[in-house]
Amino acid sequence: MSNTIRKDDDDTYESKAAAFEAADDIPINPDTERSIGAVIARRFSRREMLKGSLGVTAAATLFGASAISAGRASAEIPNPAEAVFEELASGVDERHHVAAGYEADILLRWGDALFPGMAPFDPHKLTAEEQARRFGYNNDYVAFFPLGDTGGRGLLCVNHEYASPEVMFPGINRVSRSDFSRITEAHVGVEMAAHGVSVVEITRDGQRWYPVLDSRYNRRITASTPMTIDGPAAGHPRLKTAADPSGTRVLGTFNNCAGGNTPWGTYLTTEENFHGYFWTDATTADGKPNLRGHGGPEAKSYARYRIPSNWYSWGRYDPRFNIDKEQNEANRFGWIVEIDLTDPNSTPVKHTALGRFSHEGASCVINGDGRVVLYSGDDAVFEFIYRFVSKERYRPDDRAHNMRLLSEGTLSVARFNEDGTLDWLPLVFGEGPLTPENGFHSQADVVIDARIAGDLLKATPMDRPEDIDPSPMAGPGAGKVYAMLTNNSRRKKGDENAANPRAENAFGHIVEMTAPDKDHAAARFTWDLLVKCGDPNIAEVGAMWNPATSADGWFSSPDNCAFDTDGRLWVTTDQGSSWPKTGKADGLYAVDTEGAERGKSRLFFRAPVGAEVCGPYFTPDGETLFVAVQHPGTDGVRAWKPFGRASTFEDPATRWPDFNANMPPRPSVLAIRRTGGGRIGS
Ligand code: FEO
Ligand code: CA
Ligand code: CA
Ligand code: CA
Repeated sequence: MSNTIRKDDDDTYESKAAAFEAADDIPINPDTERSIGAVIARRFSRREMLKGSLGVTAAATLFGASAISAGRASAEIPNPAEAVFEELASGVDERHHVAAGYEADILLRWGDALFPGMAPFDPHKLTAEEQARRFGYNNDYVAFFPLGDTGGRGLLCVNHEYASPEVMFPGINRVSRSDFSRITEAHVGVEMAAHGVSVVEITRDGQRWYPVLDSRYNRRITASTPMTIDGPAAGHPRLKTAADPSGTRVLGTFNNCAGGNTPWGTYLTTEENFHGYFWTDATTADGKPNLRGHGGPEAKSYARYRIPSNWYSWGRYDPRFNIDKEQNEANRFGWIVEIDLTDPNSTPVKHTALGRFSHEGASCVINGDGRVVLYSGDDAVFEFIYRFVSKERYRPDDRAHNMRLLSEGTLSVARFNEDGTLDWLPLVFGEGPLTPENGFHSQADVVIDARIAGDLLKATPMDRPEDIDPSPMAGPGAGKVYAMLTNNSRRKKGDENAANPRAENAFGHIVEMTAPDKDHAAARFTWDLLVKCGDPNIAEVGAMWNPATSADGWFSSPDNCAFDTDGRLWVTTDQGSSWPKTGKADGLYAVDTEGAERGKSRLFFRAPVGAEVCGPYFTPDGETLFVAVQHPGTDGVRAWKPFGRASTFEDPATRWPDFNANMPPRPSVLAIRRTGGGRIGS
């Protein structure tokens, strides 16, 4: 998802991405008028070195005969090391670029067959049935789970966040985001099948990776795949629908943004802007959709979650997406979903204990005491950062037990204090304000309305929390957790707070949260800022980088992040249509976190025009880096002088990666490796 200043009622747009940008930028937290004061804590010199001995990095865990492992580095990393490579030049053009000495192979493209015997991809003839057996659209989070012990095989799991009908389908020449006149039921079927997750076995032939089409593990999960619901909201009346009186069975997942992998080898996919898929036929006096006119028992919750938003017309053809016809379907989205990869027929599980909001990701660590801790950001302006701590402890040899760990525990929300401490505030029914007087009648209400609960607990409204990743380092850096705050142009002067220190924050920043003595379950952390993004040469921007950062190395709008096997942080960006503010295409940057190089950023990879960069993910041997290029040719291409107009299927700003006149741009996952082999960045 991207960022652009856009008014709620703005009816012009360039692509579906713009609709998402709009939504991410619209404050829907009513508490944001609350000013924490004009006090801007300037604490950039504060550095606390905390000593600890508790392990946080999950060991790679083999299980059963299938031997799918967790895909993480198996040992704690003793010391951080500076990433070494020749920095790439920033800029914007119709192609991708990677640092010298590296190769970026296209591994999977939208429409690629995931099963044997399929015809070559032809977007002119695409049906829902076909799409449900092919790689989906707008690839976002990527995770790799090694198979066996050679390092040469594994399962790649990829989220497909959303659809861009203007460049997916011929003949869609929309002028406004509410124009669905050329979107047919058949298009909607393809859109639903293009969402969700792809699971595909890949293997290596020498250096190069390729998909294994006859693998028994390959799977597509779509907006129609049957799933179960567990945790405190399962079976609650607010989750019961006409189609599912049990409140425990739901079809599909969508707007799968980032995610995570668990130490027991399952895949977590997160539902982000789910509100955009719910529809109303109601109109205002001037004929526009009446998005905020809903009464009824869910009215307050709908308003807080911005349901409905009419971004997709699914509700015109399937009543479960039409809130005029079905009140509760929307309560069954906005969750984190766990997928068992060992069986392609396994039923994914929506874990309601983890809370309902616009989840960016789901990063797990095993705490020193064995409990599993999961971090997740709510990606909208002025929303919160959350943490879940499991009730039970991880058991290395009991996978069935571990697969219940995300079903019960304590969900908390973060309050950043100006003295550099951070309090995790438990979202527990009956405690503090989470009582019937405030509309909470059970823990089910608390998790369904996690945002409203966070408001009552006075959590800190952040500048759009995107990905959050714990450091795997054992020495300096141990217990640190990094949160990408992508931007928030809506924060007004006077509404800054210590952890979000800039008004009109167009460029974003990175917050470092530190667990004391590596105890990720502790009630109180400390925090600091790693960088404040934007051009360090423009004083008014107020950027903060290590002075060794070059003109190519600074960036805007951090989104996804990952640690490599040497404990270095890598960050991708998503500027959306605002990339002309930097003049740089979105990219992937190595950002040092420790020592004299702390806060130094270098550009490693950049995307073609109109795309954002997602993933990233390193193989456990550190020799392959998977990167997803999402929505090529869409965002901000009007402002790209060589093109200067909106992209369509027939006339896109780039035809990356095929550059074939019969093929529109295709979101794709790349496998980056060193020419001749070796660890990336070393
Ligand atoms: Fe889907 Fe938060 O970007
Ligand atoms: Ca984003
Ligand atoms: Ca994202
Ligand atoms: Ca990540």
